[in-house]
Amino acid sequence: MKLHLVILGAGKGSRMKSNLPKVLHTLANKPLLQHVVDTSTQLNPSETHVVIGHGAEQVKSQLDGQQLSWVLQEEQLGTGHAVAQAMPGIPDDAVVLILYGDVPLTEASSLQALLAKVDDSNMGLMTINLSDPTGYGRIVRNSEGAVQCIVEEKDADPVQKQINEVNTGIMAVQAKQLKSWLPALKANNAQGEYYLTDIIAMAMKEGVGIAVEQPSHSWEVEGVNTLVQLENLERIYQRAQAHKLLLAGVRIMDTTRFDLRGELVAGNGCEIDINCIFNGRVELGNNVKIGPNCVITDCRIGDNSEILPNCVIDESSIASGAIIGPFARLRPGTQLADNTKIGNFVETKKTLVGKGSKINHLSYVGDTTLGERVNIGAGTITCNYDGVNKYQTILEDDVFVGSNTSLVAPVKAGENATIGAGSVITKDIEPNQLAVARGKQRNIDGWEKPKKD
Ligand code: UD1
Ligand code: CA
Repeated sequence: MKLHLVILGAGKGSRMKSNLPKVLHTLANKPLLQHVVDTSTQLNPSETHVVIGHGAEQVKSQLDGQQLSWVLQEEQLGTGHAVAQAMPGIPDDAVVLILYGDVPLTEASSLQALLAKVDDSNMGLMTINLSDPTGYGRIVRNSEGAVQCIVEEKDADPVQKQINEVNTGIMAVQAKQLKSWLPALKANNAQGEYYLTDIIAMAMKEGVGIAVEQPSHSWEVEGVNTLVQLENLERIYQRAQAHKLLLAGVRIMDTTRFDLRGELVAGNGCEIDINCIFNGRVELGNNVKIGPNCVITDCRIGDNSEILPNCVIDESSIASGAIIGPFARLRPGTQLADNTKIGNFVETKKTLVGKGSKINHLSYVGDTTLGERVNIGAGTITCNYDGVNKYQTILEDDVFVGSNTSLVAPVKAGENATIGAGSVITKDIEPNQLAVARGKQRNIDGWEKPKKD
């Protein structure tokens, strides 16, 4: 079967009360339209046509570099008009699956089930039964139960309004049939639009059957028109992701306070406390523990490492048995070897920390290479930036840095060197040396305290 997808996304989305085109609003930090594209890619389509209108350039540039055929619908004259714009790019022998850029959570398996019902004498229609069908097109069936037509809310009479089975909008139709029906649509309805839904009555007239498929979950066909609906779908999506992780053995303390905006891969025995956000791709080894309120982006964290509360960790790699935080910030390019410790109010950036080394309190360490078993005292700052360029600090194995030290880069301390507290180090230190660089203390006898004038 030659499958062509048509994804509608030209609408403005005025009820979002936002300047951003609706299909670019994000769910789990991914544009709604991207969710639809990613799911439908699993169907192996020959081509995916995306109908855009409002914010067309912005939508195109956001999804740049993907295999999508963009179709511009200059004026939004209705869903039927929108699909018609894509038809010139679709061969007669294709099956067309119509999807919506603002319906992000449809599962590929439901779409596959719908497509399986399409043949020369049947088109596929996805419907759902809702206890409150207000706003949706109603599915009108005859006495034998066959679908006759769809009536939009605004065109429905009081009896039709009682119908609970509604149109999700998702349809699968032979291209040659669409090509004969779409030009015949008329806009003589309450909204003055070319309704895609009117093809159902046309199909019936021509003896094409309407094969109905229903999704397993109602959220699969829920669209986003308001931020309220978006928030609702976001929580449904997050819950589903959290459940998958729970079943894979990740202890998530509260699935309502868990957000995965990307991909999380975890070994056995991992625990994630409340209010953590994971972005991009995060890999956890075995027995990794993550405390509450951590934001972790594009990281790898090795076996038995522990992230204490309130850490922000970005593009970093952490080996095994490390202890981070509370309140640590690891910025991009931080690489921690086994059994390292990064304590509270420590910021690192582009820094390699060798096995067993510790930066336990109140420090900024950037553009730095630490050997093994290095101890950085509280309040140590690498002065890596002269206002224009960045410079490296190198501290070899077993270096001990006293508290409140400034390391003015480029600078290097050889193996086993010691730096006295409060030093401003501007020159390299040889192995085993003690460097002290601070004003000498003078104790003055008989000092008279100042008096009030
Ligand atoms: C449509 C269906 C309705 C169904 C409901 C499900 C029609 C006539 N009605 O109604 O039966 O119950 O969806 O949510 O199809 N769009 C375009 N160009 C246009 C018009 C719409 O791209 O000219 C896009 C919109 O961006 C939107 C989608 O199509 O994503 C649906 O359009 P909308 O006008 O919201 O349809 P509904 O009134 O919700
Ligand atoms: Ca409408």
